[in-house]
Amino acid sequence: MASVLTIRGGVPLKGKVSVRGAKNLVPKAMVASLLGNDSSLLRNVPEIKDVEVVTSLLRLHGVEVTKDPVTGDLSLDPTKVKTAQMKDIDAHAGDSRIPILFCGPLIHAIGEAFIPDLGGCKIGDRPIDYHLDVLRQFGAVVEKREGGISISAPKGLKGAKLSLPYPSVGATEQVLLTATRAEGITELSGAAIEPEIMDLIAVLQKMGAIISVQTDRVIRIEGVPHLSGFNHRALPDRNEAASWASAALVTQGDIYVEGANQPDLTAFLNTYRRIGGAFDIDDEGIRFYHTGGKLSPLVLETDVHPGFMTDWQQPLVVALTQAVGVSIVHETVYENRFGFTQALIRMGASIQVHRECLGSIPCRFGQRNFLHSAVISGPTQLQGTDIDIPDLRGGFSHLIAALAANGTSRVTGIELINRGYERFQSKLENLGADFDIA
Ligand code: EPU
Repeated sequence: MASVLTIRGGVPLKGKVSVRGAKNLVPKAMVASLLGNDSSLLRNVPEIKDVEVVTSLLRLHGVEVTKDPVTGDLSLDPTKVKTAQMKDIDAHAGDSRIPILFCGPLIHAIGEAFIPDLGGCKIGDRPIDYHLDVLRQFGAVVEKREGGISISAPKGLKGAKLSLPYPSVGATEQVLLTATRAEGITELSGAAIEPEIMDLIAVLQKMGAIISVQTDRVIRIEGVPHLSGFNHRALPDRNEAASWASAALVTQGDIYVEGANQPDLTAFLNTYRRIGGAFDIDDEGIRFYHTGGKLSPLVLETDVHPGFMTDWQQPLVVALTQAVGVSIVHETVYENRFGFTQALIRMGASIQVHRECLGSIPCRFGQRNFLHSAVISGPTQLQGTDIDIPDLRGGFSHLIAALAANGTSRVTGIELINRGYERFQSKLENLGADFDIA
């Protein structure tokens, strides 16, 4: 039966949390292990749902995945990689978006791939057209089948000159994972350059790949016939770090986030400071806290790296409900990432969402029917309510809103939070949150 979290709000969160490897890197580094001809070791692996899903998919394809019982490090041995049963793969339909990244590595390893229909957060249409376009340009043949897509490359995968219409994180990773062992040179322009992508490049370089990141979002990859395994410590999860930082602000608390890494959070820290949040940085992490003063409103646009990341937007909007004045947030990465504000409005927040682009970044969603700009007036005292969590970041935002609210909230759908926040319940307990779970 689904769990219900009962939260009694109004307690400032105080204490320390640790963040481990990034959700948006770890599963992809696991997929990269398929490209090697011997074992890989991945360290700093969090216990989250996406890691479970990819572990299971790798095992179905004959990869031996062993977890160190003490450290949680993963050893990944791809030497017995094989074709998996379609019905077994199919059981993972809708679980995650990572399976699409198996295409290139599986074609290199066994000549074909069957990818189940994808899952992931419902924050927009989340198409895979860029992925399929680049795969076709490498020479892959893509066929739609019941429950997924089937991909092969009868003439092998060959390097290509590619250009993405938008700097998609996933499509850039698709190119990296496919091009490293494709024949010849691949040049990708319009690439995403998020820190998690740089860390994936580090993994591939350890395996023997030749990849250079050039100016203006151009990545050049010289294909090599073989790659070895890797030994890598995953970069820390900057999105989880930013989430706890917003939790500190929203609940008027003080949270030290061990593992938070300043260079990956530059845009977030600037914004945090503008609102009136305080932080102290040391070698092991960052302390985020509310100074007791008033929070200031601001005008904010999400963007691809090095801009203000879309995954930081939802928890920060909760903090903006406590700022004195009117804030404007323009979401330019996903067309439908404000659905979570409905629950905040029920809790007493004053938020209007608009179809217009309320910002200066040319946005793909302008003049279309997407509610992708929000106007938030504050401060408003939030009141506890019943909430069913809609997606990962929206869900975390609801949790921190409930933790800051007057009275009691009953929250369902918390399983979604486990997709990206390792052991969040015990972290909340350590921070002094008043809740129980039934
Ligand atoms: N897009 C297309 N066609 C494609 C691929 C993407 O139109 O084939 C569009 C998307 O619909 C979206 C935009 O391009 O509007 C950007 O999508 P992107 O491909 O960059 O996102 P992703 O790779 O699917 C990853 C993270 C997201 C994070 C985004 C942006 C993972 C598993 N997911 O998604 O993380 O928001 O990059 O940085 O790495 C989260 O952690 O909550 C989360 C959603």
